[in-house]
Amino acid sequence: MKPPPAVHYALEVQSLSQTYGNHAVLDNINLQVLPGQIVALVGPSGCGKSTLLKAILGTHKPTSGEVRTDGIPVRGPNRNVGIVYQQYSLYDFLTAEQNVSFGLKLDETTFLTRFFTPRKYIAKRREHNRRAKEFLYQVGLESACGKYPGEMSGGMRQRVAVAQAFIMRPKVVLLDEPFGALDEAMREDLQMMLLRFYQENLIAKREGRMPQYTILMVTHELNEAIYVADRVIGLSRFHTQGEKGAAIVYDRPCPVFSPDDPRDFSKFVEQREELRKAVFDDTYIKDRDKYVTFWKELSSLAKDVSNQRVS
Ligand SMILES: Nc1ncnc2c1ncn2[C@@H]1O[C@H](COP(=O)(O)OP(=O)(O)OP(=O)(O)O)[C@@H](O)[C@H]1O
Ligand SMILES: [Mg+2]
Repeated sequence: MKPPPAVHYALEVQSLSQTYGNHAVLDNINLQVLPGQIVALVGPSGCGKSTLLKAILGTHKPTSGEVRTDGIPVRGPNRNVGIVYQQYSLYDFLTAEQNVSFGLKLDETTFLTRFFTPRKYIAKRREHNRRAKEFLYQVGLESACGKYPGEMSGGMRQRVAVAQAFIMRPKVVLLDEPFGALDEAMREDLQMMLLRFYQENLIAKREGRMPQYTILMVTHELNEAIYVADRVIGLSRFHTQGEKGAAIVYDRPCPVFSPDDPRDFSKFVEQREELRKAVFDDTYIKDRDKYVTFWKELSSLAKDVSNQRVS
């Protein structure tokens, strides 16, 4: 079943393919993400997950097809899309607050505004600092505003990187294995942060506001994918036309957890097994659409993702 055409999407990928020489990597990828969704993307190593993210980010033009964010075609890197990588990319000589506000300052003030309109410049800087503090609060780092990256743990640095991405108010943020380098406790902490973001999205939708956090996250952890996301996508070439490249072979909703729920992975053992088989098992070659049922399930479930429970 196709997604409904009249709906507003934060992200649309249409008929996207990528080949390098005679190596077919991605074949006819179609994906629509609603504002406020947290979507996990899983797939075997080398199947093309990062390649897809680069096309969405606009740093790499696909061989064919189109990406749109908020209805606007992506022609290159732009403010609608942010990204957080596994290895944090903070400036060591700036504090957490300065790191978070850096992008805004670069974007909204110049040397000329500082020179010719100093009052306006100072007011803007104050606003940037206020917003940076607000975002550091959102990611649970309000007490670390003045800390330098060297004084923070890996988990704290990743939180700063997440705040850095969201302060630019992108329509979608891409996370490429964001927690892969963290130990288990920090990883759990950041997963909770995503669950809180999702709850904020639900509240925003209930109140008729645009949800702030739309996320497409690559992860190797199947438990993590099902736990933090409301939808899981599997990219793989283990399907009947695999020689043409990897395709989306799994696209299904998954249970929504609130931060207060017990971290009980036994609740989704069945779905994890289905996901493992459909996406990672090279002996299980199937029709590529067999598990691509998100839109069909969504319409029969609730008609609207915003009907989900708010804790
Ligand atoms: N610029 C490039 N030129 C040629 N081949 C490339 C290029 N970029 C990626 N590839 C190939 O495309 C395929 C997909 O790579 P990609 O990095 O997207 O995989 P991935 O799913 O992100 O893997 P991992 O899980 O290991 O991060 C690989 O075979 C890789 O060698
Ligand atoms: Mg990758």
